[in-house]
Amino acid sequence: MIFYFSGTGNSRYAAQKIAAMTGDRAYDIAEITGGDLPGDGNADVTGFIFPVYFSGLPEIVKRFASDIKVHAVLGTYVFSVITCGASPAAADKKLAKALGVNIDYSASLVMPDNYIVAYNPSTREKALDTLAAAQGEIDKICNDILNRRALVKSSLKGSLSTAFVYPLYGVFRTTRPFFADEKCVGCGKCESLCPDSAIKLKGGIPEWTKPRCQHCVACINSCPVDAIQFGKKTAERNRYCIEKLISKK
Ligand SMILES: Cc1cc2nc3c(=O)[nH]c(=O)nc-3n(C[C@H](O)[C@H](O)[C@H](O)COP(=O)(O)O)c2cc1C
Ligand code: SF4
Ligand code: SF4
Repeated sequence: MIFYFSGTGNSRYAAQKIAAMTGDRAYDIAEITGGDLPGDGNADVTGFIFPVYFSGLPEIVKRFASDIKVHAVLGTYVFSVITCGASPAAADKKLAKALGVNIDYSASLVMPDNYIVAYNPSTREKALDTLAAAQGEIDKICNDILNRRALVKSSLKGSLSTAFVYPLYGVFRTTRPFFADEKCVGCGKCESLCPDSAIKLKGGIPEWTKPRCQHCVACINSCPVDAIQFGKKTAERNRYCIEKLISKK
């Protein structure tokens, strides 16, 4: 079985490709309620595919991994594929710690950058190039998984980055600067796609109802009219989600 989390679609894209190529099933962590794991898929494989956040795990992935009963994972081939804009650092070690079991194989997959609240994501042209380059990596990863390859890389730089940068995630994942500007048409897409149920439409205008969220940036990047802002800097920045990248003419 493969479990994935995705804000802007990169990890979903990778999970669906990897599941199809390895004859497995991919489940969205945001849609699994309670501690019961689905019964379909390869019972001897447990895969986790998600984006790196601040050199570590999205909070929802950490919670899911901690809640999984260890016996459901023990004895299976455990792998992680961590999508990133640059580097997964030691996010795989954080996953292993949350799971309470060792990971057999971990791979990183460079995909288009999406963290618009902190920097300007790639242009459409650059994102298309990055996605094209990722295809070969996905093929390699599938081959490794099918051959049950054991490989977990570790680097001092990655571990240091996780140790120093990951604590900032808790501080920065505030919702306070989010707002919808005058372009908002009240379509409700942001409310329905938020994996944290942190957005509610009130009088046709979205409001962020939790002080902190996953910071998956799905809302701000997926709004069909680019109406969502995070403070003053995002209005001029590129917006990235794989749905728009792939579907646009
Ligand atoms: C909150 C947040 C933090 C991020 N931190 C990192 C990071 O530390 N290193 C990195 O290479 N990419 C980082 N990124 C970029 C994403 O990991 C990358 O774009 C990923 O492929 C997005 O996956 P998704 O489309 O499945 O959500 C971050 C993105 C977000 C939203
Ligand atoms: S997705 Fe955009 S247009 Fe639709 S309700 Fe949310 S902010 Fe408004
Ligand atoms: S409010 Fe936006 S950034 Fe936060 S979890 Fe929901 S969709 Fe993601």
